[in-house]
Amino acid sequence: MPTHETRSALEMSGFAMRSKGISKRIQSVSISAIKEMMHLALSYPDAISLAQGTPDFATPEHIRDRVKHELDHNPNVGKYAPLAGLPVLKEAIAEHLLSKRGIIANPQKELYVTMGAMEAIASAIMTIADSGDEVILLSPCFPSHITHTMLVEASPVYVRLDETRGWAFDINAFERAISPKTKAVVLCSPGNPTGTVLSENDVRAIAVSAEEHDFWVITDEPYDFLVYDDARFFSASQIPEIKNRLISCFSLSKEYAMTGWRIGYVYAEEGVINQMLKIHDAFAVSAATISQYAALSALQGDQLIVEFFRDEFLRRRDLMCARLDRLSELFSYIKPGGAYYLFPKIIPETDEYAFAIRLLKEAGVVVVPGGAFGPGGEGHVRLCFAMSDDTINQAFDRIEKWNTSFSKTKL
Ligand SMILES: Cc1ncc(COP(=O)(O)O)c(C=O)c1O
Repeated sequence: MPTHETRSALEMSGFAMRSKGISKRIQSVSISAIKEMMHLALSYPDAISLAQGTPDFATPEHIRDRVKHELDHNPNVGKYAPLAGLPVLKEAIAEHLLSKRGIIANPQKELYVTMGAMEAIASAIMTIADSGDEVILLSPCFPSHITHTMLVEASPVYVRLDETRGWAFDINAFERAISPKTKAVVLCSPGNPTGTVLSENDVRAIAVSAEEHDFWVITDEPYDFLVYDDARFFSASQIPEIKNRLISCFSLSKEYAMTGWRIGYVYAEEGVINQMLKIHDAFAVSAATISQYAALSALQGDQLIVEFFRDEFLRRRDLMCARLDRLSELFSYIKPGGAYYLFPKIIPETDEYAFAIRLLKEAGVVVVPGGAFGPGGEGHVRLCFAMSDDTINQAFDRIEKWNTSFSKTKL
């Protein structure tokens, strides 16, 4: 089974990391390389970032207007929200889930509002996994899924996506990864960083395995609206038969250009929600009240904006692919079927952490080293194409210029 060693770009760059008096649990994880690279980039004010997965759009105007209205007229907006979220927002979420995925959720019992999908996934894993349990991740995977698993002293078990077949999922490899210790699988489709979109057949086969071997299915699908070409989105949350073993984590961050509002939600069976609320109470008390009004406006407002974002990201994917084609001696890549990342392989043999740090220092371009995304990510970097055309073009102009000197020097 592939294993994975956690590395830290901050430590490699000389940042202090104390170990005396620090728990082994915390020492075993690192800050996600995505944020580490952003942090390192603060020392290079002219750097152009393709690192963080943040849409460059402003939060849509109708959402900002609603927030202004609440600030001016709602005396409760500065107070805690109810533990599970504003009832009116949960009603809107239930309607949204029904129209978007055909899910029938009881808004009072089967939903709660979180500080983004990040809190939701961390809480899902903390709720179901004990020390020594195993959590299956499809790798390369979202680095925080590794951290969330390790923070509860469970072990990530990686099922490698096959790069030679376009980062394809292999149900046989998945079944080989199941053991008596398997507690859950985390499904992230379209995937970050590969863009892999799981087919309905694959998702249904995973659900059958979950029933047979009695483990949880955790879904984290913030890019469900970003599916391109022939790919079709299908989620385990659309299989009612596995509702009792399902925790679905949702995010408004990408779909509504709301990464900074920190809003997401969880859909699960009532008894699971009530257990998860213990964590929400201990860590958050409630998601920010003002952000919940922003979320309400996003869900109730015109959904055409989501289509506009999708079309734009598709166009930007093709722009970034065209720019990568001009660097064919430096990178090879697979055109992603979803999400907004490219995960090219660095062709010259090199350590991708050293490569990313050098690219930042010498070319002023921020990318994320692929090793942070688990086995299979080594020798790759992640590039985000949610940025504007200008940002993408300027970053690639710099990389092209730098590549001339890079190819003449050794790391
Ligand atoms: C796969 C995945 N899950 C979760 C998140 C975090 O979502 P949120 O902003 O809702 O916490 C991200 C953000 O990049 C992501 O890519």
